[in-house]
Amino acid sequence: MNDSYGRELNYLRVSVTDRCNFRCLYCMPEEGVHFIPHENIVTYEDIDFLLGVLIPMGIRKVRFTGGEPLVRRGFLGFLKDLKRNRPQLKIALTTNGSLVRLFAEELGAVGLSGLNVSLDTIDKEKFKTVTRTDEFENVMEGIDIIGKKLNIPLKINTVAIKGFNDDEIENLIDFAREKNAVIRFIEFMPLDCSVWSKDNFLSADDILACLPGGAGTWEKEDVSASHGTDGPAVYYRNVHTNQRVGIIAAVSSHFCDKCNRLRVTANGELRTCLFAEKGQDILPLLRARNEEALREAVISSVRMKPKGWQFLPETQKHMWQIGG
Ligand code: GTP
Ligand code: 5AD
Ligand code: SF4
Repeated sequence: MNDSYGRELNYLRVSVTDRCNFRCLYCMPEEGVHFIPHENIVTYEDIDFLLGVLIPMGIRKVRFTGGEPLVRRGFLGFLKDLKRNRPQLKIALTTNGSLVRLFAEELGAVGLSGLNVSLDTIDKEKFKTVTRTDEFENVMEGIDIIGKKLNIPLKINTVAIKGFNDDEIENLIDFAREKNAVIRFIEFMPLDCSVWSKDNFLSADDILACLPGGAGTWEKEDVSASHGTDGPAVYYRNVHTNQRVGIIAAVSSHFCDKCNRLRVTANGELRTCLFAEKGQDILPLLRARNEEALREAVISSVRMKPKGWQFLPETQKHMWQIGG
């Protein structure tokens, strides 16, 4: 499936819930939000039907996101069935990590191609400040389980925030190495969020300059070696230790020209860009199990996929609504 600019779309991100057991400062207000009513949430059967249409159109990888995907009831059973019925499909998850310890065995049994855990700090008090929870120990346990027991490739996602965690970059890199994880630093995106400001923004270049060891230590990986279903991170390899560190230049870089992603929100909106003003409501087509109309809707959305987000008005959505 190619869009109007010749980009091949093979990676679908599905948000299975807008709910989350965290209240990250940059994502959700402390009191929570008005969550989508249950009847408007895509069911597991809806998602399976969607994949039945999208896989023949070229989708080869699905990443489940949230809110927090592991808070949705029945999620692990759904994943197990999905992998059994569609063994060729790569299935990955992005999670805050706090519930991994509760589902460890089931997670290990699914056959996931990767687990990405969001972690902005390894300082317990700062963790409490940014997530507004006391889940630090549970996340640490989750990371240990994935890195040491489950044999699932683990990535850590760290939103880089000046004045908050720029002093922790070296410690976070050491932490990732210990945990057998690849860490990626993400530029802080100006989504509808009161805590973002130019003053706390760290660009990919700023982040690169903070990597320990100085010039010559980190060698940029050849992007042509990356897999067609990879996300937007650019990886650097430490020439001495071989450790890989990723940078996701979500704001400053122009990875839009290589974008391979489609998104579906928890209430069944098909979005062709993270920053799109709004998506196309495909929930009625999913519910009607109307394959032909769904295929047509996907084709027409894909045709309209924007060239890049610089050309769109600033989104008024949060991550919990779009799934990141
Ligand atoms: P891999 O499949 O492991 O490479 O992961 P990924 O980077 O595709 O997914 P993940 O959910 O771990 O996303 C990490 C960060 O990248 C999140 O903050 C996402 O919002 C951001 N991201 C992913 N896709 C896009 C995109 O198309 N545009 C922008 N601006 N950010 C994106
Ligand atoms: N900028 C960058 N990353 C963000 N995330 C949530 N909000 C933002 C933002 N404004 C990240 C989470 C998680 C991923 C899915 O999105 O920390 O790693
Ligand atoms: Fe939850 Fe992720 Fe938003 Fe934090 S950033 S509140 S973990 S959805």
